Amino acid sequence: MLARNRIYNMYCVAGMKLLDSGSVDLTVTSPPYDNLRMYKGYSFDFDDVAAELFRVIKDGGVVVWVVNDATVMGSETGTSFRQALRFKEIGFLLHDTMVYLKDSCPYPETTRYYPSFEYMFVLVKGKRIGTVHLIADKPNKTSGDRITGTERKADGTVKYMSAVEKHTGRKVKPFGVRTNVWHYGMGFMKSTTDRCAYKHPAIFPEKLAHDHIISWSNPGDVVLDPFMGSGTVAKMARLARRDYIGFEISPEYCAIAEERLKCT
Ligand SMILES: C[S@@+](CC[C@H](N)C(=O)[O-])C[C@H]1O[C@@H](n2cnc3c(N)ncnc32)[C@H](O)[C@@H]1O
Repeated sequence: MLARNRIYNMYCVAGMKLLDSGSVDLTVTSPPYDNLRMYKGYSFDFDDVAAELFRVIKDGGVVVWVVNDATVMGSETGTSFRQALRFKEIGFLLHDTMVYLKDSCPYPETTRYYPSFEYMFVLVKGKRIGTVHLIADKPNKTSGDRITGTERKADGTVKYMSAVEKHTGRKVKPFGVRTNVWHYGMGFMKSTTDRCAYKHPAIFPEKLAHDHIISWSNPGDVVLDPFMGSGTVAKMARLARRDYIGFEISPEYCAIAEERLKCT
């Protein structure tokens, strides 16, 4: 077993082989997507990574896999979908296909709508998810009102909830659980205010990592990122009082992550 709270400059499959089976509570990661970025030419074998992720994650643990597809010869590759289905074949539940909606997008194409999102596949090992703390930060328009609404019963008739709820006096709360589309600012000084992080070409927003970490883990849990890049997941795990383990194949990117963690 490797020491926690370190980022190892290693090929992630070799690194994960040094972890005990079932020793990781949560993985939040974003692998290289097709050929969208070169990352100094480093690549990985998806099947090997998926098999090791399945082995090291504990029963009921979650893997959040953030991906997108390249467009090649006029067609999206569909790699993201193939990976999601492969994860299912090796035993993960595809718990939720979530969307990371960005506030900016690449130079617009003339034949397509502006590409503005990436997938966040939330995968679970075992029969059911272990830890769930859904974030309830969506303002309810009817906050404070008595709960109303209808419910369609199996025989097709409609039951008015208000008639039931008036006896309990339940009111609509100020905030409800958010949807599975998460919207973040991205780009310079929006993904993070750590200037050194931008030496990496593809950081994801700190808030994205934070929100998954608090949703699917508890303080003291182990959070893994096998493609650590600039150290976003390590930083946000530490701030949320979780332990982390990271792998990153590029020594230059490891140095960026270490620099970033020094100030955290
Ligand atoms: C999309 S970036 C991750 C960015 C990260 N989420 C962040 O916020 O900085 C993918 C990273 O995976 C690394 N990488 C590529 N192949 C790898 C491998 N086989 N093992 C470990 N890291 C690898 C790349 O060097 C790159 O830094």
